Amino acid sequence: MPGIVLLGAQWGDEGKGKITDLIADDFDFVVRYQGGNNAGHTVIHGDTHLALHLIPSGIMYPHITPLIGNGCVIDPKVLIGEMDKLEAGGISTERLLISGNAHLIMPWHLLLDAGSERKLGQNEIGTTRRGIGPAYQDKAARTGIRVQDLLDAHILKLKIETALVEKNELLTKIYRIDPLDPVEVYRDFQRFADRIVPHICESSQLLNAALRDNQWVLFEGAQGTLLDLDHGTYPFVTSSSCTAGGAAIGSGVGPTQINKVLGIAKAYITRVGSGPFPTELFDKTGQLLGEVGAEFGTTTGRARRCGWYDAVIVRYAAEVNGLTDLCITKLDVLSCLDTIKVCVAYEHDGRRYTTVPGSQSAFHHATPIYEELPGWQTDISACRSYYELPREARDYIDFIENLADVPVSIIAVGPERTQTIMRRWKPRS
Ligand code: GDP
Ligand code: IMO
Ligand code: MG
Repeated sequence: MPGIVLLGAQWGDEGKGKITDLIADDFDFVVRYQGGNNAGHTVIHGDTHLALHLIPSGIMYPHITPLIGNGCVIDPKVLIGEMDKLEAGGISTERLLISGNAHLIMPWHLLLDAGSERKLGQNEIGTTRRGIGPAYQDKAARTGIRVQDLLDAHILKLKIETALVEKNELLTKIYRIDPLDPVEVYRDFQRFADRIVPHICESSQLLNAALRDNQWVLFEGAQGTLLDLDHGTYPFVTSSSCTAGGAAIGSGVGPTQINKVLGIAKAYITRVGSGPFPTELFDKTGQLLGEVGAEFGTTTGRARRCGWYDAVIVRYAAEVNGLTDLCITKLDVLSCLDTIKVCVAYEHDGRRYTTVPGSQSAFHHATPIYEELPGWQTDISACRSYYELPREARDYIDFIENLADVPVSIIAVGPERTQTIMRRWKPRS
């Protein structure tokens, strides 16, 4: 012990990469437990700027073992590219471990992701087109190809050939895309195997042994609570369990091994892709937040939709994840505003909601009820303690804290690792 989960409390891009990198020093393992290279986690330290998609954000610390858990889906070409990039920047990836039970994103998954989005037309999910949905689909259908299949050339070849019998029919007949050649796919994957096989491990056993040995494990979530397959804004979600329960499933440790859950939320909110977004701003304020907050996707470069902080969503995230701590990021971005709104509840059909409505349609049509707070309009990026913050900024944090009923333990005031206020973060307690 301890096992600590760090995850997004909104729709992703909350700053999980920065905060993982910030607190990782105390840990022995940093584990990704779901998702794939749809994630884009930014880590900035001095002159080093990393955009990580698959490799856990603790990679910069030589004493940490980064591990990609069984709940993830891995595009081997992307993983190898990321490893090469890190190595070229002087960051060793030798310690990286990969669960043999994680699933592989195959070339047909990328084509099917794009094809299905095209077919949906106006109703598209707005996926990252990284093959995530189709790879998890095959996992659930029990026809997926796993990392451990790279260990046996014969099995790998057979699985690729078998899969392509059906996938090529789908590609050509339904999506009007050229078929894939099994020989070529197999040849590529044999090359990938040479690089990946040395990193394969029995991750569940390893993590359980580490926890028994009092080592520290940080579970780094990807995406965010509202993108969770079960608890998010379905169908506008990703295909994995981003919430805290997913950490147990996606790594093979029991839920009793998790003793803290740190939720990361921006001081406002953003979303990439389609789907309902009650506090979305379509005006100059939304544009300003996007500009000042540099709200462009780390993975796809798409402009992120911006809106006011939604306390209903964070309260919901506190419940479904059992949050013990909150971290509010990008507080510095709000310095550009003279007044700031916070959504405290929704109204729909004459009913007031203080948590996310169970009905998709009610959420879609929910009207936010706002409270307005004064801004501070001074640069806070050099503040390193809560009491250095202007009174209005402290009031804003206290307001959010009360609404979430979870202590705000960390406040981020800039993208750099050092631009952080450690208010109440006590991983040892
Ligand atoms: P993640 O997917 O949750 O890891 O978040 P991303 O890395 O995709 O997006 C967060 C962006 O905000 C990155 O560009 C970070 O460098 C940046 N960032 C993180 N924390 C802060 C902060 O407190 N202030 C500012 N201005 N930028 C931040
Ligand atoms: P990080 O880890 C923000 C969104 C996509 C789309 C939906 C489904 O950086 O916070 P997918 O490709 O997963 O099938 O797309 O989920 N999405 C993200 N949005 N941050 C992410 O990751 C995301 N990963 C997926 O935009 O709406
Ligand atoms: Mg991101």
